[in-house]
Amino acid sequence: MKIIILICLMFILIVRGDIWNYCEGNVNPTFKINKLTLSPDPPIVGRDVSVSLEGALNEEIQSGSSIFNVAFFMNGSWRDLPTFHNDICKVLKCPVAAGPFTFSTSIKVPIFTPHGQYKGQITLTDQQNRNVTCLTFQTYLK
Ligand SMILES: *[C@@H]1O[C@H](CO)[C@@H](O)[C@H](O)[C@H]1NC(C)=O
Ligand SMILES: *[C@@H]1O[C@H](CO)[C@@H](O)[C@H](O)[C@H]1NC(C)=O
Repeated sequence: MKIIILICLMFILIVRGDIWNYCEGNVNPTFKINKLTLSPDPPIVGRDVSVSLEGALNEEIQSGSSIFNVAFFMNGSWRDLPTFHNDICKVLKCPVAAGPFTFSTSIKVPIFTPHGQYKGQITLTDQQNRNVTCLTFQTYLK
């Protein structure tokens, strides 16, 4: 059963060419993602990667927090990197009005970052502890 779900998931990911998915048990999210892209895809060590996100928000965000987990695949197993906790309003300009939402940012991938496969999870919650969104991603670093 699990394998079938996994195969379906991989199939969807391959067909859509997406690097992300909603978390399992993403309950009542207030943000719907339409598109999330990286450029270059996959990101390249030592270069900037631009991340662009498009979606729709159905509740205003006045404040909130984000939790970012990343793991790196090395020598046959996943290794967790430190978890990042952040204030949503340090990343976004608060309040964020309900309605269509686009966000883009550029992240420098440091030259000392190991090449390889990464996966992670981003969880956002708002001022009333509602689930804004939760997504998982997987990518390679070239
Ligand atoms: C947010 O999602 C979690 C599961 O990830 C769920 O347990 C919780 O009830 C949800 N919160 C709200 C306010 O819907
Ligand atoms: C991974 O394996 C390589 C080769 O066997 C070894 O040199 C390296 O130290 C290992 N890395 C870790 C983090 O264990």
